[in-house]
Amino acid sequence: MPLHSFKGIKIGVPNPADLADFYAEIGLQGEGEHWGTRDLPQQIEICESPYRQLREIRLACTDDADLHVTAGRLDALGIACELRAGALLAHDPLNHLDIAIEPGPPVELQQQPARSDNQPGDRARHNARAEVVTEASPRPPRRLGHAVIGTPHIEPTRKLFVEGLGFRLSDAISGLAFFLRCSPDHHNFLIQPGQIPYLNHYAFEHDDVDAVARAATLYLERHPERQIAGPGRHVIGSNVFWYMKDPCGNYFEFFTDMDCIERDDSWQARPDWPLEGNWSIWGDPEPPEVFFQPDDIDEIAAGQREEYGS
Ligand SMILES: [Fe+2]
Repeated sequence: MPLHSFKGIKIGVPNPADLADFYAEIGLQGEGEHWGTRDLPQQIEICESPYRQLREIRLACTDDADLHVTAGRLDALGIACELRAGALLAHDPLNHLDIAIEPGPPVELQQQPARSDNQPGDRARHNARAEVVTEASPRPPRRLGHAVIGTPHIEPTRKLFVEGLGFRLSDAISGLAFFLRCSPDHHNFLIQPGQIPYLNHYAFEHDDVDAVARAATLYLERHPERQIAGPGRHVIGSNVFWYMKDPCGNYFEFFTDMDCIERDDSWQARPDWPLEGNWSIWGDPEPPEVFFQPDDIDEIAAGQREEYGS
């Protein structure tokens, strides 16, 4: 498996200090520009930017040979790339996105103490209150799991990520949205339609549904105006989700229990999911309009015109 990990992202915002405060608030570790979790301390880099945007994604592959193979595929697509300091650096000119691939081993997350659940016919917890009820503080996010962009350039972006970088297709909504993985996660990168290229959301994995719900509830108690969508459970990927907004206007997701694809030949990708009816198996059946049309999309478009002239 040449690509094996989604290592991190760089996010540009006009007010980096606010984003850093937010990461501390939701339980990430770090300071200044660099934030992450206990097991993965360098997953998010913040930089100052005139408008909010996804600046870079970082991926990991097995060894140097993978970098050379990937460079050859990118060359064949006409995508500029270079090998520098042991990494392959490329640029997606349509989505204004830098891509860095570094060789190295996957990082295994430490296993958390399992919570005991009582289920009909299977009482695992005896004479004790549930751990989520008695825990002193909520469990923090475990890692950044995926990022999602909206783009008007669906097919060339799919081509770059699948045929160039080597992402694998997990599922697709009939030529419109592509759920791609570079690890056993059902998706690490999702391409969906957008009037301009923009960061739709980035997502933090939590231990379980209790951890998602408790963390989201605490956040929304402090910032009720930042609710976007959820809770629910997506049909594609199966993850339980809850979407909210960070102080810079980026949407973020707390998720858990996503489908896991350990062997490529054991998963049947479905390329023709319908557009309707797969948002959530419970809760609101469809996302709110603001999920695909953020309030600040005109501001982002103006920033891009200023920066790139288009
Ligand atoms: Fe997501």
